[in-house]
Amino acid sequence: MALAATGPLLEVDHLEKHYGGVRAVDGISFTVERGSITGLIGPNGAGKSTALAMIGGFVQPSGGRIRFDGVDITGMAMHARARIGLVRTFQMARVFGNLTTLENLLVAAPRQRGERAAGVVGGRRAWRSQEKELVSEAQAMLETFSMAQKANDLAGTLSGGQKRAVEIMRALMMQPKLLLLDEPMAGLSPSLSRHLEDVLLKLADGGLSLLLVEHELETVDKLCGKVVVMAQGKVLSEGRMSELRLSREVQDAYVIG
Ligand SMILES: Nc1ncnc2c1ncn2[C@@H]1O[C@H](COP(=O)(O)OP(=O)(O)O)[C@@H](O)[C@H]1O
Ligand SMILES: [Mg+2]
Repeated sequence: MALAATGPLLEVDHLEKHYGGVRAVDGISFTVERGSITGLIGPNGAGKSTALAMIGGFVQPSGGRIRFDGVDITGMAMHARARIGLVRTFQMARVFGNLTTLENLLVAAPRQRGERAAGVVGGRRAWRSQEKELVSEAQAMLETFSMAQKANDLAGTLSGGQKRAVEIMRALMMQPKLLLLDEPMAGLSPSLSRHLEDVLLKLADGGLSLLLVEHELETVDKLCGKVVVMAQGKVLSEGRMSELRLSREVQDAYVIG
């Protein structure tokens, strides 16, 4: 199958979402390039979460188009987006509290992969080796996030920050090309935030693209190449964080917001 490996990974084209009279997102356009960490910032109520929810397929747009990897995905269901490599996490971490941390990771992805790789051809033995592979993948992921020692703890007993990490790991088990993150640092201790920053940078080095909504501008500065600034449903500006800091428009939006 021919893959569209050129052009931006994500193209958002005049995207809109109206709730009654509220223009939560009011015709935004921007791109996420392959292998980049792109930031989406702006004051509270700017429309960032709504934009991310539309890109992830959780909210249907009122207008505009979304293209991912060269394909128009505007009307595509969330699980179908995940299958082609577009995965989102939620602003509030969602984990299965009565499963262990490791089990939370294992239930995130294995089925489709199992069917694809093992299903018909290899029978039960292939299933088992597939499962072993997934377990070692999950364990490696836990190591990366410094959570190996929590593998067998019930996820319900983890701290808020650790649950957040589990949610991100679950998303990564789906092997996304683009991961959408809505304020991943919110509520994390400073040391956990720094650690998550390092992990995200490492993942980006490995070729993962990220679209990151983040309130903490230090984090945005450290992680993001291009940053898109939203205010009142519109894109106000875009550029590198160092340039945006100097922009009067951006400063005003933050003070007013
Ligand atoms: N489900 C909804 N129903 C009505 N209004 C909404 C809904 N979701 C978001 N909004 C409104 O849309 C605007 C943008 O919200 P949101 O995308 O959450 O902003 P941000 O994430 O930038 O803080 C806000 O005014 C918010 O109140
Ligand atoms: Mg939000």
